[in-house]
Amino acid sequence: MSGWGGGYVTDIPYSIGWYRNQSPVRMAIAAVIGGAEAQIPTGDDTIAMLELGCGYGLTSLALAASNPNWKVYAVDFNPAHIAVAREWAAEAGLTNITFIEGDFSTWEDDPAMRGLPAMDFVTLHGIWTWIPPVAQAGIVRLLAAKVRPGGLVHISYNAISGWTEMIPVARLIREAGRRAGGASDHRASEGMKLVRELIAADAHSLAGNRTVSSRMEMLGEANTTYLAHEFMNEHWAPVFLSDLQETLAGAKLEWVAASEMTENFPELVMSEKQREIFHRYPDRMMQELVKDLCTPRSLRSDIFVRGANRIRPHERTQILMDVALALVKPPGDLPKTLNVAAGQAELNPEFYEPIVRALSTRPWRVRDLLALPNVIGRRDNPAELIAILSGADMVEPAIRPMTAPGAEAIRFNMVTARRLIRKGASNSMVALACRPTGMPIATPLVGLALVYHYENGITDVEGLLEAIEPPEDRIDDARKVVIAFLERHLPAWRLAGAV
Ligand SMILES: C[S@@+](CC[C@H](N)C(=O)[O-])C[C@H]1O[C@@H](n2cnc3c(N)ncnc32)[C@H](O)[C@@H]1O
Repeated sequence: MSGWGGGYVTDIPYSIGWYRNQSPVRMAIAAVIGGAEAQIPTGDDTIAMLELGCGYGLTSLALAASNPNWKVYAVDFNPAHIAVAREWAAEAGLTNITFIEGDFSTWEDDPAMRGLPAMDFVTLHGIWTWIPPVAQAGIVRLLAAKVRPGGLVHISYNAISGWTEMIPVARLIREAGRRAGGASDHRASEGMKLVRELIAADAHSLAGNRTVSSRMEMLGEANTTYLAHEFMNEHWAPVFLSDLQETLAGAKLEWVAASEMTENFPELVMSEKQREIFHRYPDRMMQELVKDLCTPRSLRSDIFVRGANRIRPHERTQILMDVALALVKPPGDLPKTLNVAAGQAELNPEFYEPIVRALSTRPWRVRDLLALPNVIGRRDNPAELIAILSGADMVEPAIRPMTAPGAEAIRFNMVTARRLIRKGASNSMVALACRPTGMPIATPLVGLALVYHYENGITDVEGLLEAIEPPEDRIDDARKVVIAFLERHLPAWRLAGAV
Protein backbone atom coordinates (compact mmCIF):
# COMPACT_ATOMS: atom_id res chain seq x y z
CA MET A 1 0.00 0.00 0.00
CA SER A 2 1.35 3.41 -0.86
CA GLY A 3 0.32 6.95 0.03
CA TRP A 4 0.61 9.16 3.07
CA GLY A 5 0.04 6.38 5.64
CA GLY A 6 3.57 4.95 5.34
CA GLY A 7 2.03 1.47 5.10
CA TYR A 8 -0.72 2.02 7.70
CA VAL A 9 -4.35 1.59 6.54
CA THR A 10 -5.82 5.01 5.73
CA ASP A 11 -8.68 4.28 3.34
CA ILE A 12 -10.97 2.79 6.02
CA PRO A 13 -11.46 4.84 9.20
CA TYR A 14 -11.34 2.85 12.45
CA SER A 15 -14.41 1.90 14.51
CA ILE A 16 -15.54 3.80 17.61
CA GLY A 17 -14.76 2.26 20.98
CA TRP A 18 -14.05 2.97 24.68
CA TYR A 19 -10.99 1.36 26.34
CA ARG A 20 -10.94 1.73 30.10
CA ASN A 21 -7.26 0.89 30.57
CA GLN A 22 -6.40 4.16 28.84
CA SER A 23 -7.76 6.11 31.79
CA PRO A 24 -5.10 7.89 33.88
CA VAL A 25 -6.80 6.82 37.12
CA ARG A 26 -6.64 3.14 36.18
CA MET A 27 -3.09 3.56 34.88
CA ALA A 28 -1.96 5.03 38.20
CA ILE A 29 -3.73 2.38 40.28
CA ALA A 30 -2.20 -0.40 38.17
CA ALA A 31 1.25 1.19 38.60
CA VAL A 32 0.82 1.30 42.39
CA ILE A 33 -0.36 -2.32 42.40
CA GLY A 34 2.84 -3.06 40.45
CA GLY A 35 4.80 -1.48 43.32
CA ALA A 36 5.71 1.84 41.69
CA GLU A 37 5.19 5.30 43.05
CA ALA A 38 2.48 7.00 41.00
CA GLN A 39 0.16 9.91 41.56
CA ILE A 40 -3.42 8.63 41.50
CA PRO A 41 -5.33 11.70 40.25
CA THR A 42 -7.67 13.23 42.81
CA GLY A 43 -10.81 15.09 41.88
CA ASP A 44 -9.17 18.52 41.82
CA ASP A 45 -5.92 17.68 40.04
CA THR A 46 -5.41 19.48 36.75
CA ILE A 47 -3.64 16.75 34.88
CA ALA A 48 -2.47 16.76 31.27
CA MET A 49 -2.95 13.60 29.22
CA LEU A 50 -2.17 12.69 25.63
CA GLU A 51 -3.66 9.92 23.50
CA LEU A 52 -1.59 8.88 20.49
CA GLY A 53 -3.57 7.35 17.62
CA CYS A 54 -6.99 8.33 18.97
CA GLY A 55 -9.13 7.24 16.00
CA TYR A 56 -12.50 8.98 16.28
CA GLY A 57 -11.54 9.94 19.82
CA LEU A 58 -14.28 8.41 22.00
CA THR A 59 -11.86 7.41 24.77
CA SER A 60 -10.32 10.87 25.06
CA LEU A 61 -13.68 12.60 24.68
CA ALA A 62 -15.32 10.54 27.44
CA LEU A 63 -12.36 11.20 29.76
CA ALA A 64 -12.45 14.94 29.01
CA ALA A 65 -16.22 15.09 29.62
CA SER A 66 -15.83 13.20 32.91
CA ASN A 67 -13.01 15.45 34.10
CA PRO A 68 -13.57 19.09 33.12
CA ASN A 69 -10.44 20.12 35.07
CA TRP A 70 -8.13 17.91 32.95
CA LYS A 71 -6.39 19.00 29.77
CA VAL A 72 -6.78 16.24 27.20
CA TYR A 73 -4.81 16.12 23.94
CA ALA A 74 -5.35 13.51 21.24
CA VAL A 75 -3.40 12.94 18.02
CA ASP A 76 -4.15 10.96 14.87
CA PHE A 77 -2.84 11.36 11.36
CA ASN A 78 -6.08 10.41 9.63
CA PRO A 79 -8.03 13.61 8.90
CA ALA A 80 -11.24 11.57 8.60
CA HIS A 81 -10.86 10.77 12.33
CA ILE A 82 -9.86 14.23 13.45
CA ALA A 83 -12.66 15.98 11.54
CA VAL A 84 -15.31 13.89 13.30
CA ALA A 85 -13.60 14.07 16.70
CA ARG A 86 -13.40 17.89 16.59
CA GLU A 87 -17.00 18.24 15.53
CA TRP A 88 -18.07 15.82 18.29
CA ALA A 89 -16.17 17.81 20.95
CA ALA A 90 -17.65 21.09 19.68
CA GLU A 91 -21.19 19.70 19.65
CA ALA A 92 -20.73 18.50 23.25
CA GLY A 93 -19.29 21.90 24.22
CA LEU A 94 -16.04 20.38 25.52
CA THR A 95 -13.36 23.04 25.90
CA ASN A 96 -10.70 20.92 27.64
CA ILE A 97 -9.81 18.69 24.70
CA THR A 98 -7.60 19.40 21.69
CA PHE A 99 -7.47 17.12 18.66
CA ILE A 100 -4.34 17.39 16.54
CA GLU A 101 -3.97 15.98 13.04
CA GLY A 102 -0.35 14.88 13.24
CA ASP A 103 2.01 12.10 12.22
CA PHE A 104 4.22 10.41 14.87
CA SER A 105 7.06 10.09 12.35
CA THR A 106 7.37 13.81 11.73
CA TRP A 107 5.87 15.39 14.83
CA GLU A 108 8.75 17.83 15.27
CA ASP A 109 7.70 19.54 12.00
CA ASP A 110 4.25 20.24 13.38
CA PRO A 111 3.96 23.38 15.56
CA ALA A 112 0.85 22.01 17.34
CA MET A 113 2.72 18.87 18.40
CA ARG A 114 5.94 20.70 19.21
CA GLY A 115 3.90 23.00 21.43
CA LEU A 116 2.34 20.21 23.50
CA PRO A 117 2.93 20.71 27.24
CA ALA A 118 4.62 18.17 29.52
CA MET A 119 2.30 15.20 30.01
CA ASP A 120 1.36 13.41 33.22
CA PHE A 121 -0.15 10.51 31.26
CA VAL A 122 0.22 9.24 27.69
CA THR A 123 -1.73 6.35 26.22
CA LEU A 124 -1.52 4.35 22.97
CA HIS A 125 -4.09 1.63 22.36
CA GLY A 126 -3.72 -0.54 19.28
CA ILE A 127 -0.86 1.44 17.75
CA TRP A 128 2.64 0.20 18.50
CA THR A 129 2.83 -3.12 16.64
CA TRP A 130 0.83 -1.93 13.65
CA ILE A 131 2.96 1.05 12.58
CA PRO A 132 6.32 1.29 10.76
CA PRO A 133 9.64 1.58 12.65
CA VAL A 134 9.93 5.23 11.60
CA ALA A 135 6.63 6.03 13.38
CA GLN A 136 7.73 4.03 16.46
CA ALA A 137 10.96 6.04 16.53
CA GLY A 138 8.91 9.26 16.36
CA ILE A 139 6.83 8.11 19.32
CA VAL A 140 9.95 7.41 21.38
CA ARG A 141 11.25 10.93 20.62
CA LEU A 142 7.85 12.37 21.51
CA LEU A 143 7.73 10.46 24.81
CA ALA A 144 11.30 11.52 25.59
CA ALA A 145 10.36 15.16 25.01
CA LYS A 146 6.88 15.30 26.51
CA VAL A 147 6.47 12.87 29.41
CA ARG A 148 7.22 14.58 32.70
CA PRO A 149 9.46 12.85 35.24
CA GLY A 150 7.20 10.43 37.08
CA GLY A 151 4.68 10.46 34.21
CA LEU A 152 2.98 7.21 33.17
CA VAL A 153 2.67 5.72 29.69
CA HIS A 154 0.18 3.03 28.71
CA ILE A 155 0.84 0.92 25.62
CA SER A 156 -1.17 -2.00 24.28
CA TYR A 157 0.39 -4.15 21.59
CA ASN A 158 0.46 -7.59 20.04
CA ALA A 159 2.66 -9.94 22.07
CA ILE A 160 4.81 -12.46 20.20
CA SER A 161 4.05 -15.29 22.61
CA GLY A 162 0.32 -15.07 21.94
CA TRP A 163 0.67 -14.54 18.20
CA THR A 164 3.34 -17.12 17.30
CA GLU A 165 1.08 -19.58 15.54
CA MET A 166 -0.92 -16.83 13.86
CA ILE A 167 2.04 -14.93 12.39
CA PRO A 168 2.00 -16.91 9.10
CA VAL A 169 -1.79 -16.60 8.98
CA ALA A 170 -1.57 -12.83 9.35
CA ARG A 171 1.01 -12.74 6.58
CA LEU A 172 -1.19 -14.86 4.35
CA ILE A 173 -4.20 -12.59 4.94
CA ARG A 174 -2.13 -9.51 4.08
CA GLU A 175 -0.51 -11.02 0.97
CA ALA A 176 -3.77 -12.44 -0.37
CA GLY A 177 -5.51 -9.15 0.40
CA ARG A 178 -2.86 -7.15 -1.40
CA ARG A 179 -3.32 -9.31 -4.50
CA ALA A 180 -7.12 -9.05 -4.31
CA GLY A 181 -6.92 -5.24 -4.46
CA GLY A 182 -9.73 -2.84 -3.62
CA ALA A 183 -10.39 -1.20 -0.25
CA SER A 184 -8.59 -2.51 2.85
CA ASP A 185 -11.73 -4.07 4.35
CA HIS A 186 -12.38 -5.98 1.12
CA ARG A 187 -8.72 -7.09 1.06
CA ALA A 188 -8.96 -8.35 4.63
CA SER A 189 -12.12 -10.35 3.86
CA GLU A 190 -10.47 -11.89 0.79
CA GLY A 191 -7.44 -12.82 2.87
CA MET A 192 -9.65 -14.45 5.50
CA LYS A 193 -11.42 -16.43 2.78
CA LEU A 194 -8.12 -17.84 1.56
CA VAL A 195 -7.14 -18.97 5.07
CA ARG A 196 -10.48 -20.78 5.43
CA GLU A 197 -9.99 -22.43 2.04
CA LEU A 198 -6.52 -23.62 3.01
CA ILE A 199 -7.83 -24.99 6.30
CA ALA A 200 -10.53 -26.89 4.38
CA ALA A 201 -7.81 -28.17 2.04
CA ASP A 202 -5.90 -29.58 5.05
CA ALA A 203 -2.91 -27.24 4.82
CA HIS A 204 -0.34 -28.72 7.19
CA SER A 205 0.35 -25.54 9.23
CA LEU A 206 -3.29 -24.55 9.57
CA ALA A 207 -5.65 -27.50 9.69
CA GLY A 208 -5.71 -29.19 13.06
CA ASN A 209 -3.95 -26.29 14.78
CA ARG A 210 -6.20 -25.48 17.73
CA THR A 211 -4.91 -21.94 18.20
CA VAL A 212 -5.44 -21.10 14.54
CA SER A 213 -8.91 -22.59 14.38
CA SER A 214 -10.16 -20.91 17.57
CA ARG A 215 -8.65 -17.60 16.45
CA MET A 216 -10.23 -17.88 13.01
CA GLU A 217 -13.57 -18.57 14.65
CA MET A 218 -13.22 -15.43 16.80
CA LEU A 219 -12.11 -13.36 13.83
CA GLY A 220 -15.10 -14.62 11.83
CA GLU A 221 -17.27 -12.57 14.18
CA ALA A 222 -15.15 -9.41 13.95
CA ASN A 223 -16.17 -6.53 11.72
CA THR A 224 -14.21 -5.88 8.52
CA THR A 225 -13.02 -2.48 9.77
CA TYR A 226 -11.25 -4.20 12.63
CA LEU A 227 -9.86 -6.88 10.28
CA ALA A 228 -8.52 -4.21 7.92
CA HIS A 229 -6.69 -2.40 10.74
CA GLU A 230 -5.47 -5.65 12.29
CA PHE A 231 -4.16 -7.36 9.15
CA MET A 232 -3.68 -4.93 6.29
CA ASN A 233 -0.88 -2.80 7.75
CA GLU A 234 2.41 -3.40 5.99
CA HIS A 235 4.58 -3.17 9.08
CA TRP A 236 2.52 -5.25 11.52
CA ALA A 237 4.95 -7.03 13.84
CA PRO A 238 4.24 -8.42 17.35
CA VAL A 239 6.98 -7.84 19.96
CA PHE A 240 8.31 -9.17 23.26
CA LEU A 241 7.81 -6.93 26.27
CA SER A 242 11.56 -6.89 26.95
CA ASP A 243 12.27 -5.60 23.43
CA LEU A 244 9.62 -2.93 23.80
CA GLN A 245 11.11 -1.92 27.12
CA GLU A 246 14.54 -1.64 25.52
CA THR A 247 13.14 0.61 22.79
CA LEU A 248 11.29 2.76 25.32
CA ALA A 249 14.46 3.15 27.37
CA GLY A 250 15.18 5.79 24.71
CA ALA A 251 12.54 7.87 26.51
CA LYS A 252 13.81 6.73 29.96
CA LEU A 253 10.67 4.65 30.45
CA GLU A 254 10.58 1.56 32.62
CA TRP A 255 7.91 -1.16 32.80
CA VAL A 256 6.01 -1.18 36.07
CA ALA A 257 2.80 -3.18 35.68
CA ALA A 258 0.24 -4.84 33.46
CA SER A 259 -2.71 -2.52 32.90
CA GLU A 260 -5.26 -5.26 33.52
CA MET A 261 -4.98 -5.22 37.30
CA THR A 262 -5.57 -8.93 37.90
CA GLU A 263 -2.57 -9.78 35.70
CA ASN A 264 -0.26 -8.37 38.38
CA PHE A 265 -1.13 -11.22 40.74
CA PRO A 266 0.91 -14.32 39.84
CA GLU A 267 -1.63 -16.54 41.59
CA LEU A 268 -4.38 -15.30 39.25
CA VAL A 269 -2.29 -15.82 36.13
CA MET A 270 -0.29 -18.98 36.70
CA SER A 271 -0.61 -22.42 38.25
CA GLU A 272 1.42 -23.30 41.34
CA LYS A 273 4.10 -25.08 39.30
CA GLN A 274 4.33 -22.18 36.88
CA ARG A 275 4.63 -19.71 39.77
CA GLU A 276 7.50 -21.69 41.23
CA ILE A 277 9.43 -21.12 37.99
CA PHE A 278 8.29 -17.47 37.78
CA HIS A 279 9.58 -16.74 41.31
CA ARG A 280 12.99 -18.23 40.56
CA TYR A 281 13.84 -15.05 38.69
CA PRO A 282 14.10 -11.75 40.50
CA ASP A 283 14.19 -9.68 37.31
CA ARG A 284 10.80 -8.59 36.09
CA MET A 285 11.41 -8.95 32.35
CA MET A 286 12.25 -12.65 32.79
CA GLN A 287 9.24 -13.03 35.07
CA GLU A 288 6.97 -11.45 32.47
CA LEU A 289 8.39 -13.69 29.75
CA VAL A 290 7.60 -16.76 31.84
CA LYS A 291 4.13 -15.33 32.51
CA ASP A 292 3.60 -14.68 28.77
CA LEU A 293 4.34 -18.28 27.96
CA CYS A 294 1.87 -19.47 30.58
CA THR A 295 -0.93 -17.17 29.41
CA PRO A 296 -3.01 -17.39 26.28
CA ARG A 297 -3.29 -13.65 25.65
CA SER A 298 -2.28 -12.11 22.34
CA LEU A 299 -2.63 -8.45 23.30
CA ARG A 300 -0.47 -7.13 26.12
CA SER A 301 -1.36 -3.86 27.77
CA ASP A 302 1.36 -2.38 29.97
CA ILE A 303 2.23 0.63 32.08
CA PHE A 304 5.65 2.30 31.95
CA VAL A 305 6.94 5.13 34.11
CA ARG A 306 9.51 7.78 33.38
CA GLY A 307 11.69 7.34 36.43
CA ALA A 308 10.59 4.45 38.61
CA ASN A 309 10.54 4.90 42.37
CA ARG A 310 9.65 1.68 44.12
CA ILE A 311 7.31 1.69 47.09
CA ARG A 312 7.27 -0.79 49.94
CA PRO A 313 4.33 -3.18 50.36
CA HIS A 314 3.13 -1.25 53.43
CA GLU A 315 3.12 2.04 51.51
CA ARG A 316 1.30 0.39 48.60
CA THR A 317 -1.36 -0.85 51.00
CA GLN A 318 -1.85 2.60 52.51
CA ILE A 319 -2.18 4.28 49.09
CA LEU A 320 -4.68 1.74 47.82
CA MET A 321 -6.74 1.87 51.04
CA ASP A 322 -7.60 5.46 50.12
CA VAL A 323 -9.00 4.62 46.69
CA ALA A 324 -12.78 5.04 46.51
CA LEU A 325 -14.85 2.61 44.48
CA ALA A 326 -18.25 3.04 42.87
CA LEU A 327 -20.48 0.19 41.79
CA VAL A 328 -21.19 0.40 38.05
CA LYS A 329 -23.14 -2.84 37.66
CA PRO A 330 -26.22 -4.12 39.49
CA PRO A 331 -25.15 -5.80 42.78
CA GLY A 332 -26.81 -9.04 41.63
CA ASP A 333 -24.25 -9.28 38.81
CA LEU A 334 -21.45 -10.17 41.26
CA PRO A 335 -20.13 -13.42 39.80
CA LYS A 336 -19.25 -16.46 41.89
CA THR A 337 -16.05 -16.96 39.92
CA LEU A 338 -13.87 -14.77 37.75
CA ASN A 339 -12.22 -15.89 34.52
CA VAL A 340 -8.51 -15.32 34.96
CA ALA A 341 -5.56 -16.61 33.00
CA ALA A 342 -4.92 -19.38 35.53
CA GLY A 343 -8.54 -20.59 35.22
CA GLN A 344 -11.41 -19.62 37.52
CA ALA A 345 -10.84 -17.54 40.64
CA GLU A 346 -13.46 -18.19 43.34
CA LEU A 347 -14.97 -15.03 44.78
CA ASN A 348 -15.57 -15.85 48.44
CA PRO A 349 -19.20 -14.74 49.02
CA GLU A 350 -18.59 -14.07 52.74
CA PHE A 351 -16.03 -11.49 51.72
CA TYR A 352 -17.40 -9.98 48.51
CA GLU A 353 -21.16 -10.01 49.11
CA PRO A 354 -21.18 -7.64 52.12
CA ILE A 355 -18.76 -5.37 50.26
CA VAL A 356 -20.95 -5.21 47.18
CA ARG A 357 -24.03 -4.74 49.38
CA ALA A 358 -22.38 -1.71 50.97
CA LEU A 359 -21.39 -0.40 47.53
CA SER A 360 -25.00 -0.67 46.41
CA THR A 361 -25.83 2.21 48.77
CA ARG A 362 -23.04 4.64 47.76
CA PRO A 363 -19.36 4.77 46.74
CA TRP A 364 -16.97 3.72 49.52
CA ARG A 365 -13.31 4.02 50.30
CA VAL A 366 -11.51 0.65 50.21
CA ARG A 367 -10.33 1.27 53.78
CA ASP A 368 -13.93 1.49 54.99
CA LEU A 369 -15.08 -1.49 52.95
CA LEU A 370 -12.36 -3.64 54.48
CA ALA A 371 -13.40 -2.46 57.95
CA LEU A 372 -17.05 -3.52 57.52
CA PRO A 373 -17.93 -5.70 60.50
CA ASN A 374 -19.59 -8.50 58.50
CA VAL A 375 -16.73 -9.04 56.03
CA ILE A 376 -15.02 -12.41 56.43
CA GLY A 377 -11.63 -12.68 54.77
CA ARG A 378 -8.33 -10.80 54.43
CA ARG A 379 -8.71 -7.17 55.38
CA ASP A 380 -5.15 -6.19 54.56
CA ASN A 381 -5.10 -6.66 50.79
CA PRO A 382 -6.73 -3.64 49.12
CA ALA A 383 -4.84 -4.39 45.87
CA GLU A 384 -6.63 -7.69 45.43
CA LEU A 385 -10.03 -6.26 46.32
CA ILE A 386 -9.67 -3.48 43.73
CA ALA A 387 -8.27 -5.82 41.06
CA ILE A 388 -10.90 -8.54 41.52
CA LEU A 389 -13.94 -6.25 41.64
CA SER A 390 -12.61 -4.31 38.71
CA GLY A 391 -11.71 -7.51 36.83
CA ALA A 392 -15.34 -8.57 37.34
CA ASP A 393 -16.38 -5.20 35.83
CA MET A 394 -18.36 -4.45 39.00
CA VAL A 395 -16.63 -1.21 40.06
CA GLU A 396 -14.71 1.76 38.82
CA PRO A 397 -12.48 3.97 40.93
CA ALA A 398 -14.28 7.18 41.95
CA ILE A 399 -12.19 10.32 42.29
CA ARG A 400 -15.08 12.67 43.20
CA PRO A 401 -17.42 10.31 45.06
CA MET A 402 -20.80 11.65 46.16
CA THR A 403 -20.58 14.81 44.03
CA ALA A 404 -23.31 15.90 41.64
CA PRO A 405 -23.34 14.60 38.04
CA GLY A 406 -21.45 17.11 35.88
CA ALA A 407 -23.23 19.18 33.25
CA GLU A 408 -20.39 18.46 30.76
CA ALA A 409 -20.74 14.71 31.22
CA ILE A 410 -24.53 14.70 30.92
CA ARG A 411 -24.38 16.86 27.79
CA PHE A 412 -21.67 14.66 26.29
CA ASN A 413 -23.71 11.51 26.90
CA MET A 414 -26.75 12.97 25.17
CA VAL A 415 -24.73 14.21 22.19
CA THR A 416 -22.83 10.92 21.93
CA ALA A 417 -25.99 8.84 22.11
CA ARG A 418 -27.62 10.93 19.39
CA ARG A 419 -24.58 10.62 17.13
CA LEU A 420 -24.05 6.89 17.66
CA ILE A 421 -27.73 6.00 17.33
CA ARG A 422 -27.70 7.82 13.99
CA LYS A 423 -24.60 5.90 12.93
CA GLY A 424 -26.13 2.53 13.82
CA ALA A 425 -24.90 -0.59 15.57
CA SER A 426 -21.46 -0.71 17.14
CA ASN A 427 -19.78 -3.96 18.17
CA SER A 428 -17.43 -2.20 20.54
CA MET A 429 -18.13 -1.01 24.05
CA VAL A 430 -18.97 2.66 24.31
CA ALA A 431 -19.10 4.69 27.50
CA LEU A 432 -21.18 6.96 29.69
CA ALA A 433 -19.14 9.93 30.86
CA CYS A 434 -19.35 10.30 34.64
CA ARG A 435 -17.97 13.21 36.65
CA PRO A 436 -18.26 11.77 40.21
CA THR A 437 -16.15 8.76 39.29
CA GLY A 438 -13.95 10.62 36.77
CA MET A 439 -14.09 7.23 35.01
CA PRO A 440 -16.49 6.75 32.14
CA ILE A 441 -18.69 3.67 32.55
CA ALA A 442 -18.55 1.01 29.84
CA THR A 443 -21.80 0.04 28.17
CA PRO A 444 -22.93 -1.41 24.87
CA LEU A 445 -24.55 1.22 22.64
CA VAL A 446 -28.04 0.10 23.66
CA GLY A 447 -27.33 1.22 27.27
CA LEU A 448 -26.36 4.69 26.10
CA ALA A 449 -29.39 4.84 23.81
CA LEU A 450 -31.71 3.89 26.67
CA VAL A 451 -30.22 6.61 28.88
CA TYR A 452 -30.80 9.07 26.04
CA HIS A 453 -34.47 8.16 25.58
CA TYR A 454 -35.05 7.99 29.33
CA GLU A 455 -33.60 11.48 29.84
CA ASN A 456 -35.86 12.65 27.01
CA GLY A 457 -38.87 11.60 29.03
CA ILE A 458 -39.58 8.06 27.80
CA THR A 459 -39.58 6.14 31.06
CA ASP A 460 -41.82 3.10 30.52
CA VAL A 461 -40.91 -0.31 29.12
CA GLU A 462 -43.06 -0.20 26.00
CA GLY A 463 -42.06 3.38 25.17
CA LEU A 464 -38.36 2.56 25.49
CA LEU A 465 -38.79 -0.62 23.50
CA GLU A 466 -40.34 1.33 20.67
CA ALA A 467 -37.64 4.00 20.87
CA ILE A 468 -34.74 1.57 20.40
CA GLU A 469 -36.42 0.01 17.35
CA PRO A 470 -35.38 -3.64 17.73
CA PRO A 471 -35.75 -5.93 14.70
CA GLU A 472 -39.08 -7.83 14.64
CA ASP A 473 -37.51 -11.17 15.56
CA ARG A 474 -35.61 -9.70 18.57
CA ILE A 475 -38.46 -7.96 20.39
CA ASP A 476 -38.59 -10.39 23.31
CA ASP A 477 -34.84 -10.13 23.92
CA ALA A 478 -34.99 -6.36 23.58
CA ARG A 479 -37.81 -6.18 26.14
CA LYS A 480 -35.61 -8.06 28.62
CA VAL A 481 -32.80 -5.56 27.96
CA VAL A 482 -35.14 -2.62 28.61
CA ILE A 483 -36.46 -4.15 31.84
CA ALA A 484 -32.90 -4.86 33.03
CA PHE A 485 -32.00 -1.26 32.21
CA LEU A 486 -34.87 0.20 34.23
CA GLU A 487 -34.67 -2.15 37.19
CA ARG A 488 -30.96 -2.84 37.49
CA HIS A 489 -28.56 -0.75 35.37
CA LEU A 490 -30.17 2.67 35.67
CA PRO A 491 -30.14 2.59 39.51
CA ALA A 492 -26.44 1.58 39.50
CA TRP A 493 -25.48 4.30 37.00
CA ARG A 494 -27.51 6.87 38.94
CA LEU A 495 -25.75 5.90 42.16
CA ALA A 496 -22.36 6.22 40.45
CA GLY A 497 -23.39 9.66 39.22
CA ALA A 498 -23.50 9.14 35.46
CA VAL A 499 -27.24 9.79 35.14
C1 LIG B 1 -6.16 0.55 15.31
S1 LIG B 1 -6.44 2.24 15.34
C2 LIG B 1 -6.69 2.52 17.07
C3 LIG B 1 -7.52 3.73 17.35
C4 LIG B 1 -7.88 3.92 18.80
N1 LIG B 1 -6.71 4.02 19.64
C5 LIG B 1 -8.76 2.76 19.25
O1 LIG B 1 -8.25 1.83 19.85
O2 LIG B 1 -9.96 2.80 18.95
C6 LIG B 1 -4.82 2.98 15.07
C7 LIG B 1 -4.88 4.48 14.90
O3 LIG B 1 -3.55 5.01 14.77
C8 LIG B 1 -3.54 6.02 13.78
N2 LIG B 1 -2.17 6.10 13.25
C9 LIG B 1 -1.48 5.13 12.62
N3 LIG B 1 -0.26 5.55 12.26
C10 LIG B 1 -0.14 6.82 12.70
C11 LIG B 1 0.89 7.80 12.63
N4 LIG B 1 2.05 7.53 12.04
N5 LIG B 1 0.67 8.99 13.20
C12 LIG B 1 -0.52 9.28 13.80
N6 LIG B 1 -1.55 8.40 13.87
C13 LIG B 1 -1.36 7.17 13.33
C14 LIG B 1 -4.58 5.53 12.78
O4 LIG B 1 -5.08 6.54 11.97
C15 LIG B 1 -5.64 4.90 13.66
O5 LIG B 1 -6.62 5.81 14.03
